[in-house]
Amino acid sequence: MSQAATPHADTSTILRTEAAHGPGLWAPDIAFVRGDGARLWDADGREYIDCLAGIAVASVGHANVRLARAISEQASRLIVCPQNLGNDVRASFLAALAEQLPNELTRLYMANSGAEVNEAALKWAFAATGRRRVVAAKRGFAGRTLGVLAMTWEPKYREPFEPLAVPVDFVRYDDVGELEAAVTDETALIWLEPIQGEGGIHVASHAYLRRARELADAHGALLAFDEIQCGAGRTGRFLASAHASVVPDMVTLAKGLGGGVPIGVLALSERVAAAMPTGGHGTTFGGNPLAAAAGLAVLQEIEERGLLAHATAMGERLRSGILALGSDRVREVRGLGLMVGVELKEKVAPVIAALREQGVLTINAGATVIRFVPPLVISEAEVDEVVARFGRVLAA
Ligand SMILES: Cc1ncc(COP(=O)(O)O)c(C=O)c1O
Repeated sequence: MSQAATPHADTSTILRTEAAHGPGLWAPDIAFVRGDGARLWDADGREYIDCLAGIAVASVGHANVRLARAISEQASRLIVCPQNLGNDVRASFLAALAEQLPNELTRLYMANSGAEVNEAALKWAFAATGRRRVVAAKRGFAGRTLGVLAMTWEPKYREPFEPLAVPVDFVRYDDVGELEAAVTDETALIWLEPIQGEGGIHVASHAYLRRARELADAHGALLAFDEIQCGAGRTGRFLASAHASVVPDMVTLAKGLGGGVPIGVLALSERVAAAMPTGGHGTTFGGNPLAAAAGLAVLQEIEERGLLAHATAMGERLRSGILALGSDRVREVRGLGLMVGVELKEKVAPVIAALREQGVLTINAGATVIRFVPPLVISEAEVDEVVARFGRVLAA
């Protein structure tokens, strides 16, 4: 590694990330060393407004005092307690989380990442239905591990590893007719993101999500919502699917739920949970008290600071501000709450780089969409500043 060329960067990690996201979209030569709320500072002391948030992870902001205190206090009390033994903070976290979820989803399985809980969902669906086929959406992203990779649409992620173990029928997202044609009595699971993240910030219609529920019921299949990116308050409701009032059999959460501490939760109905044979699934680190303490602090922050209403208001402000720029380079502004996608009529990599030059961090969602997923605590003034800087970039 050349320390001279990139004095602060961990190039071995960055190269892998850059390979996934494409050249120009990442900044391997900038090392971020400090954060506060929606702000980040690099090693040279430059300040940025963070509309990336570790890809929708830093939900309650960087250096959040309650989160930092919860982790630190828990670390000095107890960080190891396997799930076959009870633990006070885990119980408090799960009780607080259950309050945010539909009453039907009574059972909670904890793991350490998004892909991991999606893998768990797949196994539970197989156990509960005795079937193997999955219906998933084109442009969907379910993770990169070998089971759920089959439900990840992007061919460049999936095809090098085929044949994959799970048979998946891909349908056009938000197309009721295609969904009706694909779901059969052999379908184990309908797998959907209520808002597609990696696929370009596409919001499913309420009618589509409702029809998915009906089709699952009619065919004895299960309905799972992957809310790893859109859940945990990002869209202004704790679950994005709550906007449509559709209750799935399973929902997965990760990313923002721990505010930065690795966590994943699969919430299931009693009936589905009961189908897993004893010892059929488990994990060493899942449910560890440190992650539970972080999750509990995040839920308390969301509740006490009114972050759901704030995310709604800030998301509207961001979208309307960008629209008001009136740039003819913008094709469409999409999203819900603080999950915003701006589709341009051109490739976004140079625009993302220019935004970074202006001190605004964003990320792409496909080749032509810029994704804004800032911490839910971003202020009005920061949103206005993001819009102003974006305006300067688009006008250049
Ligand atoms: C919708 C969705 N599902 C699953 C995943 C995988 O989560 P993880 O990266 O924590 O494994 C992601 C990550 O971007 C995601 O956005």
